[in-house]
Amino acid sequence: MTPGLLKDSYGRAIRDLRVSLTDRCNFRCFYCLPHGEPPIAPKEQMLSYEEIEYVSDIFVSLGIEKIRLTGGEPMMRRDIETIIRKLAALKPALHDLALTTNGYFLPGRAAALKAAGLDRITVSLDSLRPETFRQMTGVDVLARVLEGIEAARDAGLSPIKINAVIVRGHNDAEVADFARFAREHDLSMRFIEFMPLDSGHEWSRADVFSGREIRAAIEEHFPLAPLPVRRGAETSARYRFADGAPGEIGIIAPVTEPFCGACSRIRLTADGQIRTCLFSTVEHSLRDVIRRGATRAETVEYIESVVLKKEPRHYINDPDFLQPARTMSFIGG
Ligand code: GTP
Ligand code: 5AD
Ligand code: SF4
Repeated sequence: MTPGLLKDSYGRAIRDLRVSLTDRCNFRCFYCLPHGEPPIAPKEQMLSYEEIEYVSDIFVSLGIEKIRLTGGEPMMRRDIETIIRKLAALKPALHDLALTTNGYFLPGRAAALKAAGLDRITVSLDSLRPETFRQMTGVDVLARVLEGIEAARDAGLSPIKINAVIVRGHNDAEVADFARFAREHDLSMRFIEFMPLDSGHEWSRADVFSGREIRAAIEEHFPLAPLPVRRGAETSARYRFADGAPGEIGIIAPVTEPFCGACSRIRLTADGQIRTCLFSTVEHSLRDVIRRGATRAETVEYIESVVLKKEPRHYINDPDFLQPARTMSFIGG
């Protein structure tokens, strides 16, 4: 293999690393963690910031250009600015350092994230109606999350992306409202199909409000114009408003329009396991490898061998699909 380039056995270049900082979360989104947190791994099993920095440096030397910090809720990990600072030092080989958060801790802290070297942020926001927000997330904090989005903007963490998982019967009636919100606040609003990664195992195909339906619901009010072809391994199909209004729409349809063929992603859990796919049923303990005292060269070799095991695609649409044991709160989206 060409040194400095991670490729899987299907020829896909791996450029995007998603690092979960913690399994803990202060929300209870029903599509993720409806029944509360599973037992949290003991602290010594979690990767330390030094370990995350060490393996990220190796990943970047192998061609990773983009790191996204996830959770659980990543801002629940103490002193997250420290790890942001360490990872920001990997630029310019690292092009892009981003964070996905539920937004709760952003008011008052967004500026510190920016100062530590974070480039941009994605905030989850599943409803603009307080009662639906509470019902979907388990917490009554819509106003605070909206405040967090403004704090991120004031801090210069742009372009800000907003993620909404659209679930039939819960928030599908709000799709056009979200599009209006994107226009009014000049945001990139991303609509995501509900995937079977919920700890309650309550997902059913009937709950999936499809990408097609999402687009139709928006276009009833706001005609869209596709943005030039999907960029590389991007998850979303992107649109602008045909009337030239500010804001952008992204539709992420992994269930009805899978994008696995161009997947460039690999994931590291908070306890140091590599997951080669969101839907992997096996994990690979990078933590054990580095704690065993492997040399850097041995660690590189291990990572390369794990990447070669990356699944070709997800199997959500196959009749014998098996939901992975770990849910989104461990994998981080
Ligand atoms: P940027 O485009 O760089 O901002 O990143 P992204 O689209 O990877 O960001 P984000 O973490 O916001 O992803 C949005 C959502 O898409 C996630 O929360 C998941 O629901 C879904 N998603 C992300 N990556 C994958 C993937 O590899 N496979 C599938 N099936 N879904 C994914
Ligand atoms: N299906 C689709 N997206 C999900 N997320 C969490 N659980 C699911 C699911 N079951 C996404 C949310 C959040 C990100 C961290 O993961 O959009 O923004
Ligand atoms: Fe990549 Fe797996 Fe997501 Fe498909 S489901 S895009 S292979 S991570």
